[in-house]
Amino acid sequence: MTQIKIQTPDDWHLHFRDGDMLNETVPATARCFKRAIVMPNLVPPVTNAKMVEEYRHRILAARPEGSKFEPLMTLYLTNGTTREDIIAAKQVGTVAAKLYPAGATTNSDAAVKSLDPLFPIFEEMQKQGMLLLIHGEVTDDHIDIFDREKEFIDRNLTRIVATFPELKIVFEHITTKDAVDFVVSANDNVAATITPQHLLLNRNDMLVGGIRPHNYCLPVLKRNIHQQALREVVATGNKKFFLGTDSAPHEKDKKESACGCAGCYSAWSAIELYTHVFDELDALDKLEGFASHHGADFYGLPRNHGTITLVKEDWTIPEKIILPNGNPIVPFFAGQNCTWKLID
Ligand code: NCD
Ligand code: ZN
Repeated sequence: MTQIKIQTPDDWHLHFRDGDMLNETVPATARCFKRAIVMPNLVPPVTNAKMVEEYRHRILAARPEGSKFEPLMTLYLTNGTTREDIIAAKQVGTVAAKLYPAGATTNSDAAVKSLDPLFPIFEEMQKQGMLLLIHGEVTDDHIDIFDREKEFIDRNLTRIVATFPELKIVFEHITTKDAVDFVVSANDNVAATITPQHLLLNRNDMLVGGIRPHNYCLPVLKRNIHQQALREVVATGNKKFFLGTDSAPHEKDKKESACGCAGCYSAWSAIELYTHVFDELDALDKLEGFASHHGADFYGLPRNHGTITLVKEDWTIPEKIILPNGNPIVPFFAGQNCTWKLID
């Protein structure tokens, strides 16, 4: 196949950031995605309906001329979140709330320190039909970083799913075979997003021959058997798995640092790289489900009208992008070849 046309896709997990940066990130996503689930881990985090509304307006203002791109907003859960916060957020159209264990990732310090007190909030979300999006890693010092996702499943996710069978839960940016197996065998209200980096890479790509900070994201890349499990499950076309880029920009000097930030900025190449992976897997017929159908169906939203077209053509992802503030950022897969290209 040398050309593929799919229904217009959505990105079910990304980070736009705020301020000036929106003039970079919003057009990058709006070039091919109709909607995106916008993560709330700003500084300060988006913890109430008013902040959701204001952030949504800032994003809309950064859309390119004529763009019909639609941000889907999320609420950042803390141990101070109340049932009233959930109800008010729902009233302004917030589709989901995000659970970050405190300290798990970028800008998560203010997040959830103790899980059990949030169960009444999950109950309210179940009642309101608001989805729960989970960064599924424990944060205990003594748990090895490569085991944190599995530990979260065993200790917390199993319990949340069993207690709230009607609550729709997205296990975000899964990285392990354990997560794949859990989601496959869970009830139909449990789904997962998968990023381009976790399909394309494993931890060797971050650590062999020198540390590669631009491949560092959280949850961290795992060993190749886990990468393989992610690749295998997307190739089956299972409707519980869908596209979530986790595109997460950090300026070049924040990544290339003695204590580098976690996150890969993939917005300019994500749909192309997913296509590249599905082609490698000989599963291009499964791309449209993953990118354009499964997420909308799971969220209970209509599938998009319109299509996008990609052609089989080599191109090199740029070495850097200059942000609106003048600082450089190194995009994900910089300088590397992608075998599929989006055309207008
Ligand atoms: C994300 C970020 O930078 O906001 N970083 C990342 O490595 N994925 C946060 C997150 O999704 O964990
Ligand atoms: Zn993320």
